[in-house]
Amino acid sequence: MKQNFIGALCALAVMGGAFAQTPKKPAAKPAAKTAPAPAAEEKDAATLEFEKFRAEMEESNPAELFEMKGEEQWKTKRGPKNVSLAESCDLGQGVGKVEGAYVKMPRYFADADAVMDAERRIVWCMVEKQGFKFDEIAAKPFANANFTPDITNLVTYVAGHSRNMKIAVPLKDPKVREAYETGKAMAAYRAGPYDFSCNTCHGSDGKRIRMQNLPNLGTAAGAMKGVQGWPGYRMTGGVMLTHQWRMGDCFRQQRFPQPKYASDAIAYLLTYMIGNANGQVYKGPGIKR
Ligand code: HEC
Repeated sequence: MKQNFIGALCALAVMGGAFAQTPKKPAAKPAAKTAPAPAAEEKDAATLEFEKFRAEMEESNPAELFEMKGEEQWKTKRGPKNVSLAESCDLGQGVGKVEGAYVKMPRYFADADAVMDAERRIVWCMVEKQGFKFDEIAAKPFANANFTPDITNLVTYVAGHSRNMKIAVPLKDPKVREAYETGKAMAAYRAGPYDFSCNTCHGSDGKRIRMQNLPNLGTAAGAMKGVQGWPGYRMTGGVMLTHQWRMGDCFRQQRFPQPKYASDAIAYLLTYMIGNANGQVYKGPGIKR
């Protein structure tokens, strides 16, 4: 019964989800972040090299450019209704307040009657408050070499205002708890041509594919690796990408059809993963390998 429900949900995530996203070749996974690595985790030469490079890059983090653009877009009156998000969008901390909002999502929003991650919430505001068309946003939701969608800048701006704050997904809220439990079941749900689940690759410690360490999303430290650095400037391709993109791309790794952008299913998975990282410090938009 439960199996069927989760299966249906995964299928639902895909319905109507044929939006344009050029799947990039899976690139290398970023190394363990600065949180003290467990002694058992050995770093190969490529990982060490990347960490050195990233440390240098972070001095002038390219993500900041996107934050700046996002700030301008947040504050500017835009869309068919000609209102700004700063004067209309409530991310859970009050209208227009961005400080600390990112680390407290996903959360339940009564006005939308849904649990929403940051990106989904901002899209909701763009549609409901500014009058943009959802289908137009969802047609090109992620950056490529020639184009960065407004939503990516906006998410990066909002995320930047949670820098050095602790992840605090409100798991005590029953609606959020329910989303968490569903996300947990989805992470364990096996299907597709290879009978993979998220947990096939991300459900135990020390797994690797090629040179990439695959974080165990069921543990606090592993989940934090899946949170840290997103949204992130991906050195592979030189584009700024968000958590929504990361989830979609892992559906592809799993040989599932691409999930629908900003769907319930993605929000549930993010609630599970980010919720597992509760209490840990988020360092802001970063750089990914
Ligand atoms: C076939 C194995 C495989 C499956 C199944 C898989 N992933 Fe992944 N995942 C990867 C690989 C490989 C990477 C690193 C990719 C990269 O850096 O380009 C990754 C990266 C990630 C990251 C980013 C980690 C970081 O350090 O930032 C997250 C989060 C993630 N996966 C979540 C999921 C979720 C959720 C699912 C289920 C919907 C899933 N993955 C299914 C292989 C998989």
